[in-house]
Amino acid sequence: MARKKIALVGSGNIGGTLAHLIGLKELGDVVLFDVVEGVPQGKGLDIQESTPVEGVDVRYTGANDYAAIKGADVVIVTAGVARKPGMSRDDLVGINLKVMKAVGEGIRANCPDAFVICITNPLDVMVWALQHFSGVPANRIVGMAGVLDSARFRTFLAEEFNVSVEDVTAFVLGGHGDTMVPLVRYSTVAGIPLPDLVKMGWTTQERLDAIVQRTRDGGAEIVNLLKTGSAFYAPAASAVAMAESYLKDKKRVMPVATLVKGGTYGQPDDVFVGVPVVLGEGGVERVVEINLDAAEQAAFNKSADAVRGLVTVAKGLIG
Ligand code: APR
Repeated sequence: MARKKIALVGSGNIGGTLAHLIGLKELGDVVLFDVVEGVPQGKGLDIQESTPVEGVDVRYTGANDYAAIKGADVVIVTAGVARKPGMSRDDLVGINLKVMKAVGEGIRANCPDAFVICITNPLDVMVWALQHFSGVPANRIVGMAGVLDSARFRTFLAEEFNVSVEDVTAFVLGGHGDTMVPLVRYSTVAGIPLPDLVKMGWTTQERLDAIVQRTRDGGAEIVNLLKTGSAFYAPAASAVAMAESYLKDKKRVMPVATLVKGGTYGQPDDVFVGVPVVLGEGGVERVVEINLDAAEQAAFNKSADAVRGLVTVAKGLIG
């Protein structure tokens, strides 16, 4: 069987890390694409030269021409500008919208049947834009945010309880931004929901509230430390887990930015926003609609409305 082809549009910090992780997992051959000449070629060659040491058979190609992504099975998009200290993700909308137009047209012309994962921020609106410009059906285009946000939540919870990260599951809904909704009652340690752990004296409500807030601010915490860019190791690992679930038809249940249809999740109309889905060979095979209490529904609505506001801005910019 021919190897799968994975195209990485954007070969910056996340793109390079994606290329490395995909190789280590032997998920398929990798095409690195970027507008900057030399960078995708150089990163590709560097990682290629690590393959004999790692004992993996993966072919890397670097390119500045969209023809190189022809026939890709998976496209992971990180093209665009990352934020600097003091910037919100939303500040990037104008500039990254133009990038999504070019990328979407490149996908439409070369690999319209690919499964597309968008990472570029502001995430939810960029997924909307990429779908608009690429024409890829909604079940085959998702945004990577919830896996990362819940990984951050899991990291902080495992630290708080001094238990393995493996035994902590966490749920984060909504848009990838200040309004994201970490769902405490659906997050557990080995199946024990967080509110029970508070009752058991493992932590206090105050400490849990602080962890929830740290999760919401998780991206900014890294930006403020790095000063020159934003997080890339954990975002890349999260997107690779999503790509793997699609390529191996694992049918993992993961929170992703997807098209939430009007009438579901209490929404009046369609909106791209983060909810749990089943990811398999059919892409988004099922949107998992969980019950929300009044406070959770209000927080989710606020988050979805923030995405709608940015989509309106984006539509105005497209003209
Ligand atoms: N087409 C292709 N690549 C582009 C384009 C374009 N039109 N415009 C910019 N790029 C490339 C840049 O040359 C750079 O190599 O996108 C890459 C972005 O890489 P970084 O600046 O290192 O950013 P990174 O940390 O990888 O984050 C990428 O993901 O998490 C989000 O907010 C983040 O939007 C940002 C994106």
